[in-house]
Amino acid sequence: MKPVHILAIESSCDETSAAVIAEGRILSNIIANQTVHEQYGGVVPELASRAHQENIVPVVDLALKKAGMTPAELQAIAFTQSPGLIGSLLVGSCFAKSMALALNVPLIGVHHMQAHVLANFIDDPKPSFPFLCLTVSGGHTQIVLCESPLQMRVIGETLDDAAGEAFDKSAKLLGLPYPGGPLIDKYAKEGDPGRFRFPEPQIPHLDFSFSGLKTAILYFLQENKARQADFVERNLTDICASIQHRIVTILLNKLVKASKETGIREICIAGGVSANSGLRNALQTYSEQHQWNIYIPKFEYCTDNAAMIAMMAHYKYLAGEFSPLDAIPSARAQFI
Ligand code: KG4
Ligand code: ZN
Repeated sequence: MKPVHILAIESSCDETSAAVIAEGRILSNIIANQTVHEQYGGVVPELASRAHQENIVPVVDLALKKAGMTPAELQAIAFTQSPGLIGSLLVGSCFAKSMALALNVPLIGVHHMQAHVLANFIDDPKPSFPFLCLTVSGGHTQIVLCESPLQMRVIGETLDDAAGEAFDKSAKLLGLPYPGGPLIDKYAKEGDPGRFRFPEPQIPHLDFSFSGLKTAILYFLQENKARQADFVERNLTDICASIQHRIVTILLNKLVKASKETGIREICIAGGVSANSGLRNALQTYSEQHQWNIYIPKFEYCTDNAAMIAMMAHYKYLAGEFSPLDAIPSARAQFI
C-alpha cells in the first residue's frame, strides 16, 4: 500500500498555514502571520480574508518544498471546515477543493477545535485514551473528553467570552496592543500575582464565564486611575500577574473538577492560551502533587497551525471519512 501523504490547510482566522503529514508524521508546517490587524486592535475579517488570498499559494508551495514532496505524491487534501471567520474559511476551503479536484484525490474537512486537541499527538509522548483536554483559544474555552482520535465530546465550555478573549480584552483595558495575551504573560513574569484580587465567578457544572472578570477589571482600573493618573504604568507587572493568576485559577479549578468527576488523570491542554507560562506552570505543579499525566503541545502547535489539521486528517483518512467537493465551510459548528 502507498504511504499516506496529506496536505492540510488552515485559514480559520488570521494565520495562513499549510502542513504535510506522511504516515502520521509531520514533515512541514509553514505559518504566515498577518500583522495588518495590529493597528486595529483586533482581527478585521475582510483584511484577514484578503491576506489569506495573498499568502495561500506561497505558503502551500513552501510546505510542499520543505516536505520534499510534489503535488502528485499527495493522497488527500485537508482543510479547516469550521469554526472560524467565514471569509477566511472560504479561501482555504476553495483552495483545498480546487487542489483535490485537480489531483483527483479525496477532500477531508476538519473541525478546528478537534484539531487543536490532536495537536497533542504530533510529538511523543502521546496521551492515552480516554483523556481530558482543556482547549483554550481566542474564540473557545472547552473541556473535551476524548475517547479516540475521532470521538470527542465537549463536557464544559464558556458561556460568554473565551479565555483568550479575557486576556486580550484585559490587555486592551491596560492600553496594550492586540493580541494582548502574550504581553500579559510577559509582564506577569515580573509581577506579584497576589497583589490585586479579582473575583472568581461561580458558574455551575464544568462551564466557564469570563465576562464578569472583564467588568471587574474595568471598574478596578477606573477607580484607581481616578485616584492616581499613572496607576497602570506604575503597577503594570502586578496588574498583569494578578489578572493572569485569576484566569489561570478559573481554568485549573474547572479542569480539577472535570478530572474528579470523570476519574481521568490523563490531561492535555491545547489552543493559543496553552502557550501561557502561568497556565503551564500551574498545571505542572498540580500534576506533580496529584499524579496527573500532563501533555502540552510545543509552542508552534499551540496557536493556529496546519500541522494539527493534518493530524486530524490522518485519522479521518484511515477511517475513510472524506468530504464531498461541495462541503460547506461554517463559521459555527458542533464537532464533525
Ligand atoms: O488558538 P489561537 O491561535 O487562535 C484561535 O483559534 O483563537 O489563539 C489565539 C489566542 C489569543 O487570544 C492570544 O492572546 C492567546 O491565544 N495567547 C495567549 C498567549 N499566547 C497566545 N494568551 C495568554 N498567554 C500567552 N502566552
Ligand atoms: Zn485556534
